Amino acid sequence: MKFFVDTANVEEIREANDLGVICGVTTNPSLIAKEGRDFIEVVKEITEIVDGPISAEVISLDAKGMVEEADKLSKIHKNIVIKLPMTEEGLKATKILSQKGIKTNVTLIFSSVQALLAARAGATYVSPFVGRLDDIGQNGLELIEEVVDIFAQNDIDTQIIVASVRNPIHVSQAARLGADIATVPLKVIKQMTKHPLTDKGIESFIKDWEGASLKL
Ligand code: E4P
Repeated sequence: MKFFVDTANVEEIREANDLGVICGVTTNPSLIAKEGRDFIEVVKEITEIVDGPISAEVISLDAKGMVEEADKLSKIHKNIVIKLPMTEEGLKATKILSQKGIKTNVTLIFSSVQALLAARAGATYVSPFVGRLDDIGQNGLELIEEVVDIFAQNDIDTQIIVASVRNPIHVSQAARLGADIATVPLKVIKQMTKHPLTDKGIESFIKDWEGASLKL
């Protein structure tokens, strides 16, 4: 399973990229709004930091408007992936964009049949949300299991991006289930680097080294 970072904050993206573990970025309208900066400018800056798929989401709710926005966004850089909501209009736009050779990420997927429809419309990626399902008392990881299974059984090559990731357990379980990608907030990537025994081990190695008065 590969990692994308889920943020529109360029400092966070730089930090995640420097760790050497991410190969793409996902943004959404809320994450862009949080930055209080020009959308196109932010996306352009992100493409200069990460050389991989960068999801930029449309705002229109009708297929025609989505395609117009997609045309504008995809001109920013070759790595732009158009993120579209999982609606009837979103499916129509996904089909049109896939025929034009524009990569798409169908987002706000909360059921396996939604994922299957998006794949059949030609989506490059689907984004099932785990955290938001957990929030309403459903098991988000069960959705990932279903989508992985359905795509495998049906020879679907649309890639699964596990989204709305809230903790390292979401990540490890998604990897065990065979998801292609997890898009992870920087905070969770940092949590994933930690283990108390790692810190304890470093502390004792340094203490023993210094106690022996050795030099490198
Ligand atoms: C995915 O692409 C979305 O940007 C994101 O994962 C949403 O996560 P949230 O539920 O934490 O807002």
